[in-house]
Amino acid sequence: MGYINLSNEQVNISNGEVLFEESGHKFIWLGWDEADIKGSFIQVNQYLIISNGKGTLLDPGGVHVFPKVVANVSRYIDLADIKNIFYTHQDPDVSSGIAMWLSITSANVYISKLWVRFLPHFGITDVSRIIPIEDNGGRIDSFEVIPAHFMHSPGQHTLYDPTSKILFSGDVGAAVFGSKTYLFVEDFNAHVALMEGFHKRYMASNAVCRNFVNRVRKYDINMIAPQHGAVFKKESAKSFLSWLESLRCGSDIVDEISR
Ligand SMILES: [Fe+2]
Ligand SMILES: [Fe+2]
Repeated sequence: MGYINLSNEQVNISNGEVLFEESGHKFIWLGWDEADIKGSFIQVNQYLIISNGKGTLLDPGGVHVFPKVVANVSRYIDLADIKNIFYTHQDPDVSSGIAMWLSITSANVYISKLWVRFLPHFGITDVSRIIPIEDNGGRIDSFEVIPAHFMHSPGQHTLYDPTSKILFSGDVGAAVFGSKTYLFVEDFNAHVALMEGFHKRYMASNAVCRNFVNRVRKYDINMIAPQHGAVFKKESAKSFLSWLESLRCGSDIVDEISR
């Protein structure tokens, strides 16, 4: 089927959608439930890549979303076939469910080496299935792990799937929805208003943003899938990277925000 071709109105919010599918390779957005959208906590996206019959979970999140994520993952793959769990960084909305995921899968967990010793505070004692990611990224199976340090965490990575050409960008590209939610960015300029506050405050500096943009522009990107907010298709992904590389944020505006 290639890439999803649905309007926002046609998206199945609760079950999730397959964003890309070809020869059994799938990149899946795992949907939202009411709590995701209406809770007092920030809305989160989780994704699942299925490749050669094995699953890779991307930032599967914490306790609030766990039942929904398990239910939706199970629509697509047996939990026993989850092979990898990739965490962009250490935040609770990303990785606080680690104890539950380790108990219901036999997956290995990948996260920046900076955070391996912190994860046990989310309730585990055995770190033998946690595999540290080096600062320069690397590979998990066929996926490219691309450094995104200080975007926003000091040890942060994104993941590029060369088969679907989808970049899972973690907090980069995050939007904070108001009353209206949608899966795909359709009006980029309107969407900027939902991203601006987050990026200005959570991203470390313009220099860091430019470093990241230069890094990911080397890849052929058809979609950018962030951990919060909406997915960018090809044209809006380009607009997003242009916007990001000129953003003043973090240390650039520290005097303004601390005044
Ligand atoms: Fe974060
Ligand atoms: Fe986040």
